[in-house]
Amino acid sequence: MLEEQEKYIVKVKEKNKSKNLKYSILTMGCELNENDSEKIAGMLEEMGYTKIDDYKKSDLVIFNTCCVRENAEERLFGKIGEIKKIKESQDIILAIGGCMMQEKNMLDKIKKSYPFVDIIFGTHTIQNLPENIYKAIVKNEKVKDVIDIDGEIFEGLPIKRNSKFKASVTIMYGCDNFCSYCIVPYVRGRERSRKPEKILEEIRKLADEGYKEVTLLGQNVNSYKGDEKIKNFADLLNEVCKIDGIKKVDFISPHPKDFSDEVIDAIRNNEKISRIIHLPLQSGNTKVLKEMNRKYTKEQYLNLANKMYERIPGLVLSTDIIVGFPGETDQEFEDTLDVVRKINFEQIFMFIYSKREGTVASKREDQIPEDIKHERFNKLKELFEAKIDENNKKYIGTVQNILIEGPSKYNENTYEGRTSTNKVVIIEQKDNYKIGDVVKVKIIENHKWYLKGEAMCS
Ligand code: 5AD
Ligand code: SF4
Repeated sequence: MLEEQEKYIVKVKEKNKSKNLKYSILTMGCELNENDSEKIAGMLEEMGYTKIDDYKKSDLVIFNTCCVRENAEERLFGKIGEIKKIKESQDIILAIGGCMMQEKNMLDKIKKSYPFVDIIFGTHTIQNLPENIYKAIVKNEKVKDVIDIDGEIFEGLPIKRNSKFKASVTIMYGCDNFCSYCIVPYVRGRERSRKPEKILEEIRKLADEGYKEVTLLGQNVNSYKGDEKIKNFADLLNEVCKIDGIKKVDFISPHPKDFSDEVIDAIRNNEKISRIIHLPLQSGNTKVLKEMNRKYTKEQYLNLANKMYERIPGLVLSTDIIVGFPGETDQEFEDTLDVVRKINFEQIFMFIYSKREGTVASKREDQIPEDIKHERFNKLKELFEAKIDENNKKYIGTVQNILIEGPSKYNENTYEGRTSTNKVVIIEQKDNYKIGDVVKVKIIENHKWYLKGEAMCS
């Protein structure tokens, strides 16, 4: 952590002394944003703020925004409007940060239409939050701290994690792929990897604190670049798996174009690595994939998936799919459905193409009408739902190792956990399980979005 910022933490803490101030963070978007919010929370706690969920009762509210798809904007404006009302009658500091603030048009709009926002920060300036809060609460300044750079890495920020047994660890920042629909490379900067030792040090510490699961995060984890000893993502996976105490290792997201044989071997050779791999497809049509700048064809994706199935027993794939990319014809969309029929995806995150200003695809004139995009989305959803039932049936009668996540939210007499393939399993209470226990469970019923199981005698 920067020394300069540590001084501001002390100053803000002093100013907040015995005031019992509260903060809340609303995080939009992906796991990387969630991880950034955990770091923001870490800094705020050191400044003497306590977390609450209700932002209406907070003294400091942070919105950590996402701009991958358009619908997040409306949601943000709605939330800002709510805070504006509260601001009329109570002292509340509003800070807006994250990806959306790196977009010039959004930044201009916030500054012009919402001048009461106290702090605006971007993806490259999270670490300056102590200083920015100091300026807002002591000097009463309106702060704008957004810079447009390739990006740096700041180690050692304090962190307050959302879970006590599952932790996310960012291994790399930014993206160099420039998929033609995607805004991320413009708002998160160039690809940069953390030093392997820093990552391993963080995970060892997590294991010492009792964490059982880690998820390695990056926009494109398998282009991770390490050092002389731990050179690439495969090496990193092997090292992470050697850490005692960590029982499950997961990662999001890999790009199919650089899913190397070494990474496949690392998964096969390490039982700790989750057997559910997220392998974003985006489209099943080779021409559309080329226009998306994905750098693989339909056949290459299918070959990779089949190779992974062969080499990794028990593998389950999940994916992301975009429907209605500019110029996509019915025939081309059929190729996407064809891949979904061929591969038994456990989970599909389906997205309707959303035009993002500044991206290559946004400039195309052959945008697909909304009704056709929705029609395709529904077609894909129907196909997938029919396949879930088919997939679930394969689990019935099998015995699975279930990692306990806690009592079920819906029925306190049952526990909720997940298979190594990430399927939710509800277990009738047998013992008093602790979060993080691994229990042998026989799967007895299929409920589409979850399975029901009976704990086996141990
Ligand atoms: N429109 C729709 N979906 C998008 N994604 C990224 N950009 C867009 C966009 N412009 C989806 C991709 C990516 C996921 C995180 O979000 O499927 O994998
Ligand atoms: Fe966006 Fe493509 Fe980078 Fe993923 S790999 S963040 S979809 S540009």
